[in-house]
Amino acid sequence: MRMRKKKNSVSRISECNELLLNSREEIESFPVTVEIGCGKGKFIVETAKRNPSVNYIAIEKISDVALLAMEKVRDAGLTNVKFIIGDAKTLPEFFRKNELERIYLNFSDPWPKSGHTRRRLTYRGFLEMYKELLCPTGEIVFKTDNRPLFDFSLEEFRYMGFDLEDLTYDLHASEYAEDNIVTEYEANFSAKGFTINRVRAKMNSVTNLEIRKAEACELDRIMEIVAQAQEYMKEAGFCQWDNGYPSRELIEKDIKDENRYVVCHNNTIMASAGLFMGEEPDYKEIYEGEWLNSSPYISIHRICVDNKFKGMGLGGAVVRHCEDIARKNNIRNIRCDTHEENLSMRRMLEKNGFVYCGIIHLADGSPRVAYQKKMK
Ligand SMILES: C[S@@+](CC[C@H](N)C(=O)[O-])C[C@H]1O[C@@H](n2cnc3c(N)ncnc32)[C@H](O)[C@@H]1O
Repeated sequence: MRMRKKKNSVSRISECNELLLNSREEIESFPVTVEIGCGKGKFIVETAKRNPSVNYIAIEKISDVALLAMEKVRDAGLTNVKFIIGDAKTLPEFFRKNELERIYLNFSDPWPKSGHTRRRLTYRGFLEMYKELLCPTGEIVFKTDNRPLFDFSLEEFRYMGFDLEDLTYDLHASEYAEDNIVTEYEANFSAKGFTINRVRAKMNSVTNLEIRKAEACELDRIMEIVAQAQEYMKEAGFCQWDNGYPSRELIEKDIKDENRYVVCHNNTIMASAGLFMGEEPDYKEIYEGEWLNSSPYISIHRICVDNKFKGMGLGGAVVRHCEDIARKNNIRNIRCDTHEENLSMRRMLEKNGFVYCGIIHLADGSPRVAYQKKMK
């Protein structure tokens, strides 16, 4: 935000001194809602007026801009807003884990050059930091007129395991318009005819998971989850894991070969999957279609989720972990197969960017639908 130097800005800021946070110790109570890059403060003032029981902290890195926002808050007589004049990067100096319930990012600077990606406030490095500070039910609400920044941000949110809700590419024409509080930039851009994009990126317990290689002592627990999956497939009426597949010996071999992973939360194993590098013999031939390319890939096999933890997106967490491993090994493709009637697995794959490629046959001749994900 460019603006002329304000007259007497130092003395004007000191007149609003009681609104300024200099250290963590000055924060009276948690949790709080933060606006990063509050600009001249119209949004935070209106929001704080509507929600007097919520504590707000606005961060703005340009002191002359923050000054205008502070004066608005003072003039409105609000007691539930405080300010940090500084960079978003300093957030961890003020907050610890679980202390934020919401972060607003309104019309953040787009930094369009690819060399400046890391400066975008929705870049994964920033999201990693926000995730540390948000409570498990916390969220980031992001608005921008800039479509390339919005598309980039959606990818980053997804990559970091946030759930996306209330997504709209035209906020003012949407069902959310009535509750929307318009910022200074928003008023300006929409008057010029730009549509406003908005999304709510919610923390998910899935974002606080540990995914690691399984240990030999975890075989029994993994087999419990395998048994649940076998039962589920039997009840659903399709025979993907019949005749005792995958056997205890096979899972034990996965663990020994360091291909078996577990998804844990607070030391509870919730799901497990095999991630394999190198060519999968069953994938040599494909029928009624073709693979997206012949580049190296990782394959995901024998993925299973404990019944208690279904629907939490654990499959997606496995896919993202697989992508991390792929990147570290300069691999850009993931392949997977499942039974034609295993609709929940197919939905999970499609939701996580896999594309249906055709039919493969297992060593015993059983057909399976084959999927591939080409990573960006
Ligand atoms: C484009 S303006 C939008 C202002 C306001 N949110 C609105 O919608 O009217 C972006 C604001 O974010 C501030 N800003 C940008 N990067 C920041 C950062 N890393 N930390 C704190 N503030 C930042 C800028 O100084 C500027 O005031």
